[in-house]
Amino acid sequence: MIKNILRTLLVTLCGVSFLTASASDNSENQTNKEDKSLMNTDSKTAPSALNEDSKKLIVFFSHTGENYNVGYIEKGNTHIIADMINQATGADIFEIVPEKAYPADSYNECIAIAKKELESDARPAIKGDVNVEDYDLIFIGYPNWWGNPPMCVYTFIEKHHWDGKTVIPFITHEGSGMGGTDRKIAASCKGANTLTGQGLAIQGKVAQENQPAAQKSVESWLEELGMKK
Ligand SMILES: Cc1cc2nc3c(=O)[nH]c(=O)nc-3n(C[C@H](O)[C@H](O)[C@H](O)COP(=O)(O)O)c2cc1C
Repeated sequence: MIKNILRTLLVTLCGVSFLTASASDNSENQTNKEDKSLMNTDSKTAPSALNEDSKKLIVFFSHTGENYNVGYIEKGNTHIIADMINQATGADIFEIVPEKAYPADSYNECIAIAKKELESDARPAIKGDVNVEDYDLIFIGYPNWWGNPPMCVYTFIEKHHWDGKTVIPFITHEGSGMGGTDRKIAASCKGANTLTGQGLAIQGKVAQENQPAAQKSVESWLEELGMKK
């Protein structure tokens, strides 16, 4: 009961700070990576998984339809970035699709469902699967939903074993950046070497409406990671 009240409070506060941040920080070039001073506190390096021969997979969730700050979109912001990583690396790609789709026509309804799922720590059922066990390196991409990945991302993660894998998070957002979600992914992908502090955070509006800028960010991020085309 107390846990639920605290969680509700946290979600509400995060929601308020998200709206404030978005209103005041809506610059064109929001293709920031996390502040380097906060980086690498808990990440280990795994250069072998970053090399050309390793088997790479991109797993992502992305919401289409009515979305924050971009109107109605046919292809989600994170999906656009996932495709860019796919083109640059040749990694296989898998989309996390919830069995029950979030409403496409109403942002407010989507928010309401997402909030309920977060408050109840839900694990919404998802369609299909991919054998993570076949890969060395897995990029995990998602939108920032109040400082969390959507709960269906956890559904996916918890279906798999992560021992010995290298995981690299990427996120799209409207002002909150990575927001510590990489550490949540690290905690969830038990046994993996999650490269916290080295993920890519990119503004959804830039991904949607300024693809050359987004592309540039993706490419320089991959280069910094030591991954070539
Ligand atoms: C339910 C919900 C909650 C969101 N919460 C945040 C937030 O806390 N901080 C933020 O910067 N953006 C937030 N956003 C905006 C999304 O992170 C942003 O639009 C993202 O690019 C969407 O990616 P997608 O199109 O791949 O789903 C939220 C959007 C939704 C729908």
